[in-house]
Amino acid sequence: MKRYKIAIIGVGGISEAHIGGYLSDEHCELYAFCDINEKTLKAKGDKYGITRLYTDFNVMFKDLPEIDIVSICTWNNAHVAAGLAAINAGCHVFCEKPMAMNAAEAEQLSDAAEKSGKILGLGFCRRFGKDAILAREMAENGMLGNVYYAKALYLRRNGSPGGWFSDRKRSGGGPLIDLGVHVIDLVRYIAGDPQPVSVYGVTFDKLGDRRNLMDKKKFYLSENSERVDEIFDVEDFASAMIRFDNGMVLSVETSYSLNCGDDVGRIEIFGDKGGITIDPDLVYHGEVLNRLADITFSAPTHFDGSEYGAEIHSFVSAVEGKEKLRATGKDGVALMKILDAVYRSACEKREIIIK
Ligand SMILES: NC(=O)c1ccc[n+]([C@@H]2O[C@H](COP(=O)([O-])OP(=O)(O)OC[C@H]3O[C@@H](n4cnc5c(N)ncnc54)[C@H](O)[C@@H]3O)[C@@H](O)[C@H]2O)c1
Repeated sequence: MKRYKIAIIGVGGISEAHIGGYLSDEHCELYAFCDINEKTLKAKGDKYGITRLYTDFNVMFKDLPEIDIVSICTWNNAHVAAGLAAINAGCHVFCEKPMAMNAAEAEQLSDAAEKSGKILGLGFCRRFGKDAILAREMAENGMLGNVYYAKALYLRRNGSPGGWFSDRKRSGGGPLIDLGVHVIDLVRYIAGDPQPVSVYGVTFDKLGDRRNLMDKKKFYLSENSERVDEIFDVEDFASAMIRFDNGMVLSVETSYSLNCGDDVGRIEIFGDKGGITIDPDLVYHGEVLNRLADITFSAPTHFDGSEYGAEIHSFVSAVEGKEKLRATGKDGVALMKILDAVYRSACEKREIIIK
């Protein structure tokens, strides 16, 4: 049996989820780690018994031409450089969200993968949730009818992760590029992957990271958050109306800091036959025998973390040619076009047409 040699670039927080996925896949062998932070790199090498350790991915690809698959789990600003290096080295690539710092960069990576014939998967983990799978099946079976409006809220009252997340040079933006990307992609997936056509967006930086407040949840803080001198030059709240080519309009709101009652994560999708709420489990709103009905499911449908393993297994299956890729480079590019347009719209105070 062929065992794919796996390299992970960026071995911080989310790499644990990727590593767990590969370790539980009999077709994969953890082979090499790369991180610019030597302490993090050594600790991760010790934890998993990996001795092929590199601080520069170009050196790693030169030394180890036998690598088959690369997971990219770096800060956002290194996704495309690492992805291009991996494609040039003949590897299949699984890249964390967001795909890039902007759409132009994302297109570069997507085009390179397409030309090379290598598989490029995106870490849109919400596509692997029981809620997403069920909702998409409902939409495909006509239970929603024509979907014309959707709402996505991903709001934190006091939840900036700090560290690189709030440093625009490394992140590309704040809650929109970090959190908004998940819920925009989830709605797009349920609606059958429509293409964005225009965006009106606003961003604010009124509250910053509120590091003076004592109520910060430990869970939200990045491992690398310095909390004292760290940079916060991203938006703390973003909102947008996104129009798609299937006629659907999505209203999205996302924040690190907001004077809201509590943190919220909710999706609502409205069609002319039925609707869906995900908060956190999925409820279908429709009609039964001329009466309004709300249908819940006996088995839980909410996000539970198993999505991370599922996305890795599905990606490896796509590499083997056994499965169609569920989150592609093109999906990553579509998302980056939306994010670029929100930031541009906020800056120019007008609607942006996406080409
Ligand atoms: N899908 C999800 O639910 C999810 C959750 C968290 C993070 N993420 C994404 O994963 C990525 C990493 O986030 P994280 O929370 O693990 O951050 P992290 O800071 O914990 O880890 C990132 C690691 O990348 C390393 N790194 C940075 N630039 C590098 C480079 N050029 N070469 C090699 N290593 C480099 C850093 O030293 C760090 O150890 C981000 O893109 C983030 O958006 C996704």
